[in-house]
Amino acid sequence: MYNWFEQMRQTQPVWLDEESNCWHVFRYDDVNTAITDYQRFSSERRMQREAMATAGSPNKTPFTGRSIIAMDPPQHRQYRNLVTSAFTPRAIDKLRGRVTQITQELLDKVVANGSMDFADDIAYPLPTIVIAEMLGVPVSDRPLFQSWADGLLRRQLNDAEVFRPVEEQRNNPELQRLTRVFEEMSDYFERMLEERKREPRDDMMSALLQAEVDGQHLSMEDTISFCTLLLLAGHVTTTNLLSQAIRCFDEHPDTLTQLKKEPELMPSAIEEVLRYASPVWRLVRTTKEAVTLSGITIPQDATIFTWLSSANRDPQQFTEPERFDITRTPNKHVAFGHGIHFCIGAPLSRMEASVALPMILKQLPNMRVDRSGSQLFEGRFLFGFKHLPITFDAHAQ
Ligand code: HEM
Repeated sequence: MYNWFEQMRQTQPVWLDEESNCWHVFRYDDVNTAITDYQRFSSERRMQREAMATAGSPNKTPFTGRSIIAMDPPQHRQYRNLVTSAFTPRAIDKLRGRVTQITQELLDKVVANGSMDFADDIAYPLPTIVIAEMLGVPVSDRPLFQSWADGLLRRQLNDAEVFRPVEEQRNNPELQRLTRVFEEMSDYFERMLEERKREPRDDMMSALLQAEVDGQHLSMEDTISFCTLLLLAGHVTTTNLLSQAIRCFDEHPDTLTQLKKEPELMPSAIEEVLRYASPVWRLVRTTKEAVTLSGITIPQDATIFTWLSSANRDPQQFTEPERFDITRTPNKHVAFGHGIHFCIGAPLSRMEASVALPMILKQLPNMRVDRSGSQLFEGRFLFGFKHLPITFDAHAQ
């Protein structure tokens, strides 16, 4: 992919894929404009929601809730405000002790083995347990969350299929499968929320049920969407950050030596992992009017993919972008997006990584990635490992 990005940045920085009729943007400045300028680039995904509703089971309420990631102002700000207090750096700092404890429990299970699948044993469970506890869903339902995440990531549709007109989607089996995953999540959260309605608890689900926008409680559909977004965005992305960090350190062993000598470099190393191996490949926007980027005019109502991972390797923004440099400053990467939709969970995932990675490096001496056994997620949304086997010096607890 990275060779393709380089070629596209140089030759076709704004490219129309005629098969899907979607536009692709590759340069840092253009990506930044498209994800920040909400007056001209909308985050609403009306077409996909309608397609999902069309493909849903006839005897079920279609999955039609809205979530902040797919909202424009002024509604976006009102809804986002409902959860910002749970994600402030201060609120997140309070979770540090719990993250340390979970990481230790996960490490205790594997240190004597000398090998593990880092994705399965640490990178996936850690953020999943954290977000499940914040939301208030039982951690024991983790296999269920994993099956949903797998179901959504194992997406076989290409862009041309997803962005077809709604009426052509009705019988698309892959879209029907995705819709079933959403329906399952939706049913699950509906049950959980009904329980909280009867008996509120000290968790984010109960807080969302009590929240009001313009004096009104959120609809059940919107509350479900919010929970689904937080659960999904809260785990698979950080999973990728953790596994990409291990992969980057393994490929650049000098950084491990440097981190051992100067552990205070870890936060800047995490930022470099986010830039160099961005966990989210690309975001989507729709043009509200005709817009010109890098001299090319994109018409109104066009679907645009903004490639964060290409922007983060743009030499116009980063000196020697192909070099993994854990001391890089400045490092204005767009791995968490930019502007009003900037990732709400950024302080949480940064904290999780800054707590877990030093513990992992210390407790798993001589860690090596078995590159032949590693397997990336499929698809063009997330960049991370489904499997990342590693070996290390085994030791007793
Ligand atoms: C938004 C990436 C972790 C929740 C975003 C966006 C990106 C992103 C690129 C912008 C979307 C857009 O502009 O359309 C990441 C990465 C993560 C991560 C790379 C980990 C390394 C988390 C976590 C949560 C979370 C832990 C926790 C709940 C959200 C939410 C939004 C969002 C709710 C929507 C914000 C809005 O639309 O205002 N994330 N994310 N993310 N992220 Fe994250």
